[in-house]
Amino acid sequence: MADALESLARTALGNAHAPYSRFRVGAALEAADGRRFFGCNVENASYGLTICAERAAVAAAVAEGVRRLARLVIVTERGAPSPPCGACRQVLAEFGTDLAIRSVSGTAERSWRLADLLPEPFGLDEKGKEG
Ligand code: THU
Repeated sequence: MADALESLARTALGNAHAPYSRFRVGAALEAADGRRFFGCNVENASYGLTICAERAAVAAAVAEGVRRLARLVIVTERGAPSPPCGACRQVLAEFGTDLAIRSVSGTAERSWRLADLLPEPFGLDEKGKEG
């Protein structure tokens, strides 16, 4: 069922800049305090500089002071529901591996916990909770 977070992800997907892969991705995050943020993939002619939708959403949340994430919804238009890529898993893990992830593609959907997708994230002892 489409909830508010999915609607935000869908709106972000509509703004995706994906002229090279033609694979548009929208992502929406709900912070532990209930605030919501979104992002889309931003491709570049220099392919390796592409920013994934999930990391764009993380950057938007962190810029507003968020440090704990609760829920992520990913929306794509074709293929199986897409889990976040490895790089995005690591970036998301910085803000809580308890994250509930839901991915929707057409009428199909899947759900995961980040801790199951990335059981052993890289971390530094120095990581300050206060950011
Ligand atoms: N992409 C994302 O936005 N998120 C992912 O987790 C994996 C891939 C984007 C990057 C690129 O613009 C397109 O999907 C095809 O790889």
